[in-house]
Amino acid sequence: METNFKLKIIDKTQIPETEPKRQYYFIEIAKEYIKQLSAIKGSPMTFHVSTFGCQMNARDSEKLVGILEQIGYEEVDTEEADFVIYNTCTVRENANNKVYGRLGYLNGFQKKNPLMMIGLCGCMMQEPTVVEKIKQSYRFVNLIFGTHNIYKFAELITTAIENSFSDLAKKKGSSMTIDIWEDTDKIVEDLPIERKYFFKSGVNIMFGCNNFCSYCIVPYVRGRERSREPKDIIREIEKLVADGVVEVMLLGQNVNSYGKNLDNPISFAALLQEIEKIDGLERIRFMTSHPKDLSDELIEVMKNSKKICKHLHLPLQSGSSRILKIMNRHYDKERYLELVEKIRTAVPDIALTTDIIVGFPGETEEDFEETMDVVRKVGYDSAFTFIYSKRTGTPAASMENQIPEDVVKVRFDRLLKEVQKTATKKAEALTGNIEKVLVESVNEQDEHLVTGRLSNNSVVHLTGTADLIGKIIDVKLTECKGFYYIGEEVK
Ligand code: 5AD
Ligand code: SF4
Repeated sequence: METNFKLKIIDKTQIPETEPKRQYYFIEIAKEYIKQLSAIKGSPMTFHVSTFGCQMNARDSEKLVGILEQIGYEEVDTEEADFVIYNTCTVRENANNKVYGRLGYLNGFQKKNPLMMIGLCGCMMQEPTVVEKIKQSYRFVNLIFGTHNIYKFAELITTAIENSFSDLAKKKGSSMTIDIWEDTDKIVEDLPIERKYFFKSGVNIMFGCNNFCSYCIVPYVRGRERSREPKDIIREIEKLVADGVVEVMLLGQNVNSYGKNLDNPISFAALLQEIEKIDGLERIRFMTSHPKDLSDELIEVMKNSKKICKHLHLPLQSGSSRILKIMNRHYDKERYLELVEKIRTAVPDIALTTDIIVGFPGETEEDFEETMDVVRKVGYDSAFTFIYSKRTGTPAASMENQIPEDVVKVRFDRLLKEVQKTATKKAEALTGNIEKVLVESVNEQDEHLVTGRLSNNSVVHLTGTADLIGKIIDVKLTECKGFYYIGEEVK
């Protein structure tokens, strides 16, 4: 491949002001550039998106892939690609460290491939100290953008390509394109998107968070809460269903406060009722529910729904009312347990899962025992347990009495054991049942085995082939293996 190439810059006239028109304009420009680069390379330009973190990021990555495919990049399953993007997470410190570690690797690939661009986006990029560090120590990165301007990706790629390749000599360390916004109230609809699964999809119903739990960095990196218009959400789901989707996962940091900031406010429960009416849609999931905002109306809707899955993710964070107060969670142990009781009375077979943080500043042995007590009382179907991670800029980071690592580790292990014990007990109770299962994938080692999910989100492996993917079938749960089942199709 010729290394002394120069990109022919395209003149841009009459760039549309309004979105999404503007982005479709830049998609056309970027397409021309990819054609030029492919000609230089002698084969199609390739990309790889690596996603860190939550479902929100997974959905954002589908948006990135949608644009990359539109402009002519081909997806590959390796980071030895012409454009590698890390969609980052910063909720805990270890997520950040992973990214820095892997950037070194990417640099190695880039040294061998003069057409390679490296892009960084997502929550970590909303932290000024991170961007500063990358500017200082990772000069080879070509494009950095944040969570608020992801809709501008086509425009950002265009600029990054121009900056990186218009004069290759300049590339040595001076072509970084950076665009980070502090916040936005903008939601841009109708951009291209490429879904990972044909039968299920995430659907953003809101962005950002207003809760400011004292340990959490999300409100600082994802901005203030803003909801999409119900008609846009319904239209998107109708289109997905027409495309073969049977299950949607409604996404928001706190779906229970959906709709409050709209011109015509509407509750999350009311939105669910509208979504329920969509013909052809079989399953509705949502994530995440803040206990403080979970309404009786929502419980009622869940009780009467045929489509809402029997699963509620209800982050506890801590079982100690004292700690919950310092965490700024706006509920206490008693209220949480009452809520669980109310939900279980209304929907007896619902699976409950949760998030728990161990080692929040000032957590005493007694506080931790309160958490263990809630875990025993609720009997979660599963739980994500996290060691508290100090996030600079959050109120908890400057609190006194940070808990020593060895103490936290012992508590964490105790909690994990308890969670596993209660989860196994819950799972065993369903053995022998016949349940509806949405088949999601073929086993990687054995093409005669498929994997699916129950309404309550549990995983089941059964004999079957690829033609079952995307179908909802009856499965007898013959054996419980702790966290998953072995089953067989009942015809
Ligand atoms: N340390 C540890 N866990 C955290 N989470 C959020 N912030 C932190 C932190 N600083 C956890 C919470 C949240 C989940 C997504 O991540 O439990 O519900
Ligand atoms: Fe973070 Fe709390 Fe918002 Fe969840 S609700 S994203 S834990 S601030």
